[in-house]
Amino acid sequence: MESIWSKTCGMKQRSPLSGDLHTEAVIIGGGMAGILTAYQLERSGIRTVVLEAERIGSGQTKNTTAKITAQHGLICRTLAEKKGKEVAAQFVMANQIAVEEFEKVIQDEHISCDFEPCSSYVYSDNEQALREEAKMAASFGLPAVFTDQIEIPVPCAGAVRFDRQAKFHPLKFLDALAQQLTIYEQTPVLDAEEHSVKTASGQVTADYIIFATHFPFINFPGMYFARMHQKRSYVLALADAGILNGMYIGDQSDSLSFRQYGRYLLLGGQGHRTGENKDGGNYERLRQKARHLYPGSREVACWSAQDCMTADQIPFIGHYAAERPDWFVATGFQKWGMTSSMLSAMLLRDLICGIKNPYADVFAPSRFSADELSQIVRDSGKAVSGLTKRFFQIPEETISMLQPGHGAIVETDSGKAGVYKTDDQKIYQVDIVCPHLGCQLAWNPDERTWDCPCHGSRFDYKGNLLTGPAQRGIHND
Ligand code: FES
Repeated sequence: MESIWSKTCGMKQRSPLSGDLHTEAVIIGGGMAGILTAYQLERSGIRTVVLEAERIGSGQTKNTTAKITAQHGLICRTLAEKKGKEVAAQFVMANQIAVEEFEKVIQDEHISCDFEPCSSYVYSDNEQALREEAKMAASFGLPAVFTDQIEIPVPCAGAVRFDRQAKFHPLKFLDALAQQLTIYEQTPVLDAEEHSVKTASGQVTADYIIFATHFPFINFPGMYFARMHQKRSYVLALADAGILNGMYIGDQSDSLSFRQYGRYLLLGGQGHRTGENKDGGNYERLRQKARHLYPGSREVACWSAQDCMTADQIPFIGHYAAERPDWFVATGFQKWGMTSSMLSAMLLRDLICGIKNPYADVFAPSRFSADELSQIVRDSGKAVSGLTKRFFQIPEETISMLQPGHGAIVETDSGKAGVYKTDDQKIYQVDIVCPHLGCQLAWNPDERTWDCPCHGSRFDYKGNLLTGPAQRGIHND
C-alpha cells in the first residue's frame, strides 16, 4: 500500500554515515520535523547533520494528508476549557505563524511542491459549538467564521472556516528542501549520550541533540512512553469524485476528513488506537463510505497513517528533560504533523539560538498536565501479561486451523506465540512481546502487522520493525 505522495515523487538517495564526525547540532529523524529543524538551524548559522534510519520522508511524512493548518479540530474551545483562553490563543497563533512560514520558505527557496493556499473547515452537528469556536478564534486574531456553505456531501449544521490555510505535496517539498542539508540515510541511531549519538557506522558528537523520530526512543529521562499513545487512521485517494476547494474534518473522533490533491480526492477516516484493531475491515468500511458519498468514483491509492497523541492535545516541543539541557524533542503532533513540524523547527531554532519565543512555554514538554496521570494509568493497564520470551513448537492443530492470510496469538508449551499464515500457506512465527517495554502485541488484520497497544510500535509479519519507539524487530530467534 503506497500513498499518493510516494506514488508521485521519487526521492533522491543519500549515503549512510561512514566514520565519526563532530557538528554543532545533530538531528535524529529525517521526516518533516527533522528536515525543517535542520533547515531553520542552518539558516541561523548552526552547522547541522541529520541521521535517518531509512530514507528521508519514509516514516509518517509520506502518509500524511498534508494539510497545513492552524485549525486542529475545535481546538480553541477545547483548550480554553482545559487550560484557559490565554493558552488557547497562544496555541492557535503559534500554529498560524507556522502556516505562514511554509509559504515564506517555499517562496524563498523557489520550491515547486503543488503548494496551494485554501480554507480549512471543521464541520459538526453542533451549531452552537461551531459558532462559539468561530467567535473565539476570531477574537484571538485568526481568520475564522461560522458558515453553512460547505462542499462535502455530509449532513451537518455547518462549519468553522479558517481562511489563509494551505495544502501541498509533502515529499516534493521535503526532497527540494533537503538538497541543501547534510543528511545521512540508512543510519539508525542505536544510543545517545549527553553529547554523542552512536550508530553502527560511526559516532556523531554535537553540542545539541534533537530527537525528531515521531516517538522518542530513549525512555529515561523524559518518560515519553508514559505520556503518549499512538492512533492509526486510513486514507483513500479517489479519482472522479469531483473537485473540492477546501480541506475538511469533522469534530468527532469517527468523522471523515476530505482534501483535494490535483484530480484526486483524499478521503480519510476509521481512526483507532494502535493495537486495537482485532476485527480489521477498516479499508473496506472506508470504501463503503466512498461508494455511498461519491458513487462513480474510482480508488487509485490507499494507505494508513499513525499519529502520536498527548493527553492535553498539545505537542511536546522543547527540552527533552531537565537532566539533559542540550537535548531537544519534537513529538506528539496529534493529527497535525505538517504544521506542528514547522512550529517545532521554529521553536527549537529559537531555543538553541537563545532567542525568546513567546509560545515556547505552551509546548514545553516540562509542562504539568493532570490529564497525563489518568493516561499513564490507562497505558499501564494495557501492559498486559504474557511476557514469556521465546517459544519453539506451535501445535499442529493450530497451524491447520489458521486461515491463509490470517495471523493469531497461540498458546504453546513454552508460552504465547504470534503466528501468520501467508496466502500460499507459509508459516511465520514471531515473539509477541514488544521489545520496547514488554507489552503484548496484537494482530492487525488490515495491514497484516503486529501492533503494540501501549505506545504504538509496529512490526511486519516476518518480525521486522516498522515503527518505533521499539528499536528492533521481533524475530523468533
Ligand atoms: Fe512501548 Fe510496545 S511500544 S511497549
